[in-house]
Amino acid sequence: MIQIFTKTNELKKHLTQLKNGGKIIGFAPTMGALHNGHLSLIAQSNNQCDITASSIFVNPTQFDNKEDLVKYPDTTRKDITILDAKGTDILYLPTVEEVYPDGTKPTIDFDFGYLTTIAEGAYRAGHFEGVAQIVSILLDIVTPHKIFMGQKDFQQCALVHQLIRFKQIDTEIVVCPIIREADGLAMSSRNMRLGDQEREKAIILSQALQWVKKNYANANIADLEEQAKTMINETEFCKADYIEIRDRTTLKPIADNSIKDNVVVLGAAYVGTVRLIDNMIIF
Ligand code: PAF
Repeated sequence: MIQIFTKTNELKKHLTQLKNGGKIIGFAPTMGALHNGHLSLIAQSNNQCDITASSIFVNPTQFDNKEDLVKYPDTTRKDITILDAKGTDILYLPTVEEVYPDGTKPTIDFDFGYLTTIAEGAYRAGHFEGVAQIVSILLDIVTPHKIFMGQKDFQQCALVHQLIRFKQIDTEIVVCPIIREADGLAMSSRNMRLGDQEREKAIILSQALQWVKKNYANANIADLEEQAKTMINETEFCKADYIEIRDRTTLKPIADNSIKDNVVVLGAAYVGTVRLIDNMIIF
């Protein structure tokens, strides 16, 4: 039976007891509106750890677009039932005041430099600073042995990797593969906001990335990125923000397509007013 904690000190006390008893703690942070992508994180944690903890907290500091925050789906009751059914042991469900007793101003001292200024960072000012802030707080509270994160947020995973290095903690990050709908659309809580016709067209993002992967050897990097963007822009309701071919570790641009190691293509596009992201590992 899932145990729900709204108070940080009670959660910490409980986790300390478990850790003192030798339990391995896995942690999957979420903002709720759960889908199968999240549930794959829970499943992996259940496989690899003794205790699976999760959190539902819609973190206000990572929303560069306040409308996104207001419109963020609230399905907490349903989420709790699902988490319980999937074998989650602990849920941290705090209020904003509980997480940010001194207010939601930026508190992170680390400088992620490059990582926060490209791709998503370039389009969403302050977003990654907010993510780093909340993940840092959650890591301090839960101090898990492993944190499970979805590859769909590729840049976020790279950031959390770096955050763990900065904090010099022993938590291991486990990046779990993207879970896709039958037609290829990456699962996302934002998909719920797509109208029927938009939903149909939204697959162009994963198709464009797939196209880049397939044609990587046949064109230069700039042309691959341009053509993928054109594919998206020529689709009704869709507008590409970026398609970028990058090194998987540093996220630096790839010089040319003779590089056949550690390459990812990252993409973001609007479908109607909903902004979607996706990525595909090329090598
Ligand atoms: O990926 C998310 O859902 C959020 O960015 C996270 C990691 C839970 C931090 O709020």
